[in-house]
Amino acid sequence: MSSTTIQRVVVDHVSRQFGYEEEAVLAIDDVSLSAAPGEFVSLLGPSGCGKSSLLKIIDGLDRASAGRVLVNDKEVTGPRTDVGFVFQNDSLLPWRTVRSNILMGAEFTGSDMRAARQEADELLRLTGLQQFADRYPHQLSGGMRQRANLARALLVDPEILLMDEPFGALDAQTRELMQAELLRIWELRKKTVLFVTHQIEEAVYLSDRVLLMSARPGRIAAEYVIDLPRPRQLEIRHTDEFTAQVHVIWERLRDEVLETFRAETQAQAQEAVA
Ligand SMILES: Nc1ncnc2c1ncn2[C@@H]1O[C@H](COP(=O)(O)OP(=O)(O)O)[C@@H](O)[C@H]1O
Ligand SMILES: [Mg+2]
Repeated sequence: MSSTTIQRVVVDHVSRQFGYEEEAVLAIDDVSLSAAPGEFVSLLGPSGCGKSSLLKIIDGLDRASAGRVLVNDKEVTGPRTDVGFVFQNDSLLPWRTVRSNILMGAEFTGSDMRAARQEADELLRLTGLQQFADRYPHQLSGGMRQRANLARALLVDPEILLMDEPFGALDAQTRELMQAELLRIWELRKKTVLFVTHQIEEAVYLSDRVLLMSARPGRIAAEYVIDLPRPRQLEIRHTDEFTAQVHVIWERLRDEVLETFRAETQAQAQEAVA
């Protein structure tokens, strides 16, 4: 990694082991990666390969067993306000309205609430939720709830957005519309995004760079620079360049998954014999 390039996020030889001795599970094995300011990077990999674990370590919600994470050149030792997190399952509080959910971050960090309320109004507009500001989460569709989650993560204006399969629970159509929405907002706000997904099309459509993770233990198996033009409309998915890019990654991911499948079948066969 060249020291002349400014990096917003640096993951430096990070490993994470859960449990000890016979129970030990190596979830992440010596992962290094970086993301430049304003870059959109996806972590793509089969389920169980350590994607969520890695995001939590980058956010400071969990500690690495080895290695370190630098955000804005400072080592991460706990949760911080220059990083926003959008979780896999929407994490809105059911007893708070949309506006009040969005304002949560400002309450916890002791920010100026007047400025925060103005910013919340701006984010409600940005995410198309003005009409729903006073509704409760259960009154919203899945797509709207994830818009609210995104608005909440953006409230304290973090430079980095960590997104853990944020659209995983949405139907295919809504999911594509939300991806386009996310790109529109990203073009406006220019955040550094680390986006976790197991869907190849989603990773290719959104990203400047896709990092393919191997099955457990998670390692970076391959890196793909996605040089499709921006801004990207949904229609780009029907172009030959898009399809070709998806196919290249698909073949590699298939090999990764097949390899794990073989290893697991072998381990089971050995256990049956023993
Ligand atoms: N807190 C934990 N304790 C024990 N094992 C864990 C814990 N969190 C994750 N794991 C294990 O680590 C591996 C990676 O999990 P995870 O990061 O959730 O994968 P992904 O998000 O890619 O599906 C899995 O085998 C999972 O069971
Ligand atoms: Mg996960």
